[in-house]
Amino acid sequence: MKTNTATLIDNRTGKHYEFDILEATRGPSVVDISTFYKKTGMFTYDVGYTSTASCTSSITFIDGEKGELRYRGIDIKKLAKEHTYLENCYLLLNGSMPNADELKRFDLELRHRSFIDEDLKRLISTFPDSAHPMSILSSGVSALSSFYFEHLNMHNIQECQDMARRIIAKIPTLAAFAYRKSLGIPFIYPDIDRSFTENFLYMLRAYPGGKMKRGMDGEEEIKPIEIKALDTIFTLHADHEQNASTTVVRNVASTGAHPYVAISSGIAALWGRAHGGANESVIAQLEMIGSVENIGKYIAKAKDPNDEFRLMGFGHRVYKNFDPRAEVLKELQDELKEELNLDSNLMAIASKIEEIALSDEYFIERKLYPNVDFYSGVILSALKIEKSMFTPIFVIGRTVGWIAHLLEFRVDSSSKIARPRQLYRGE
Ligand code: ACO
Repeated sequence: MKTNTATLIDNRTGKHYEFDILEATRGPSVVDISTFYKKTGMFTYDVGYTSTASCTSSITFIDGEKGELRYRGIDIKKLAKEHTYLENCYLLLNGSMPNADELKRFDLELRHRSFIDEDLKRLISTFPDSAHPMSILSSGVSALSSFYFEHLNMHNIQECQDMARRIIAKIPTLAAFAYRKSLGIPFIYPDIDRSFTENFLYMLRAYPGGKMKRGMDGEEEIKPIEIKALDTIFTLHADHEQNASTTVVRNVASTGAHPYVAISSGIAALWGRAHGGANESVIAQLEMIGSVENIGKYIAKAKDPNDEFRLMGFGHRVYKNFDPRAEVLKELQDELKEELNLDSNLMAIASKIEEIALSDEYFIERKLYPNVDFYSGVILSALKIEKSMFTPIFVIGRTVGWIAHLLEFRVDSSSKIARPRQLYRGE
């Protein structure tokens, strides 16, 4: 008898059905139920895919119980502390860290590809000034498929890499243009003398003619510590295996749609408050709470089963002890406290909420810990970034992850169109 199988017994009939168990290199093995319907005439039921592996992947690994996250086998803390976002992008796309020459070529390529077509710029201009940057961003990325329609069919690795590098390079420009449009101020073109992360801050902050704000002591240049902080935030958001938006990207790509349309769908999925939109909601919530004295009232609301209020930035489908990304950001927040103007009132409210929640039975029982979004908002505010840009910043970091998954999906011979079944209970 084969031992690497699992047997299902239908207790209504006593029939036995056997399924193969596939071993993972890390984490749980899976029961291969692809023949389940054929063998049993039944479907499996798993709302929200809490126990379902929808693909084979070798990009990112998470152990939610241990609070472990790895890109291509390397621990996130090491990657965040010892490597730049661009190195991590290269790692996610290619499977290994670049050498000095590869990194330089990659960097230069992204700098030169960072410009967007003037017609796309005009399209962005047509949005109302009040439009949320996420709405402009997802539309802009979808429109990008018209400018690079040839990426619908990619036949070799070079074409795939061109498609990937093009969108990774252009996303910061689209996000910065979306932001400036939402404020009704002129667009600032990329500056190829600046690194990926510095250039994004420059496009947000600069005045026409490439000038920076004039302070009493002269031009307010972008500080290296600000670049480091944002670069780390990009790295921490770069991939997160089969999260909601990545699943959307894979599912849209599974129909044969254009890669940039699939990324645009991922952006739309990320926008929700339960996912990437949480970072904007965290700060909005801290501002609404207003002072440490009001916290008790909101903790009570979060615990009330009849109240829809949730503590934003708490809880995670996978992490049940801590979110390792949140740990890196908490350390970074402490580092920045000295050097940047972190909002002391917001920080005081955030620390108190964290302290109360971590010792409260309700949160302990449900394993609700601060997630990455709980800390990123305070740091981004210190970089003088508006809350409406927090989720677009998540998009900039995550684009490489979406693209890596899309490419993995395309070369996997077992990939299929995503088409789940249902438990029908209607007439
Ligand atoms: N505040 C208060 N209670 C919460 C919270 C919260 N933030 N999160 C979960 N709960 C409670 C639920 O009410 C539920 O309680 P019950 O068992 O008494 O009914 C229990 O904890 C389990 O919650 P679920 O919603 O079933 O957990 P799920 O894994 O489906 O959801 C999620 C995870 C969406 C992240 C959830 O914790 C949440 O809404 N958090 C706030 C939003 C947030 O921070 N999202 C960012 C996630 S990280 C990311 O996407 C980058």
